[in-house]
Amino acid sequence: MKINIAIDGHSSCGKSTLAKQIAKELNYVYIDTGAMYRAMALYALQSGFIKQGKLDTNSLISSLDNVYISFKYNPETQSSETFLNTANVEKEIRSMQVSNFVSAVSELKEVRAKLVRLQKRLAEFGGVVMDGRDIGTVVMPNAHVKFFMTADDLVRAQRRFDELRSNGTEISLQEVVQNITSRDTTDSNRTNDPLRKSDDAIIIDNTHLTQEEQFDFAMSHIRRAFESVEKKTEAESGVVE
Ligand code: DC
Repeated sequence: MKINIAIDGHSSCGKSTLAKQIAKELNYVYIDTGAMYRAMALYALQSGFIKQGKLDTNSLISSLDNVYISFKYNPETQSSETFLNTANVEKEIRSMQVSNFVSAVSELKEVRAKLVRLQKRLAEFGGVVMDGRDIGTVVMPNAHVKFFMTADDLVRAQRRFDELRSNGTEISLQEVVQNITSRDTTDSNRTNDPLRKSDDAIIIDNTHLTQEEQFDFAMSHIRRAFESVEKKTEAESGVVE
């Protein structure tokens, strides 16, 4: 029996790290929905739809049929990489330029409708760990396990800052704090599918947790979910111990 696991939460709080660990442990597929919105923002940038810091929403919306976003597994890096049409954009979508526009792009209901449709299709047969902002509420409302992750603003910014600097990005901690907090505000206050904790999600505040502690905590909930699914299946099939 394959279940689905939803992970939502604030920017840069380690959702993808946890999601990848869980997917590896269970041999499930990891789907990074933030990467899809980032690829869409990159498309808007490359197409010249962002001029003088402003997004031309009409042009983006009328070009949506030309955008094809997919993932391909790279055996060398042992992770899946994001493709925009035929180009591998895994690196570009992590740039600060994309981070600065992704919230504006992901606010648009037409963009969300297209990507949510794709995400729902990917989760149709189970065996998926998906992270994002609206996974437990909109994309997989029936997920067997839902986590909502957060951490102190400064701790998140410092982690992201260290990651960007180790990739050679010239940036100040202040800029990272500004980007993270403004994305949280836009993502939480937008009209369409805002970042919101699903009522049945388990909160993980990892401000003071190691990755290992966080993983153990998450896996204990996932194991419990497997047990209850098994019990339910047995009860339905009339198996008595
Ligand atoms: O997970 P991330 O930081 O890479 O996501 C980038 C942006 O994409 C985030 O600021 C908001 C948006 N996003 C969204 O609106 N819905 C999702 N399911 C995932 C991401």
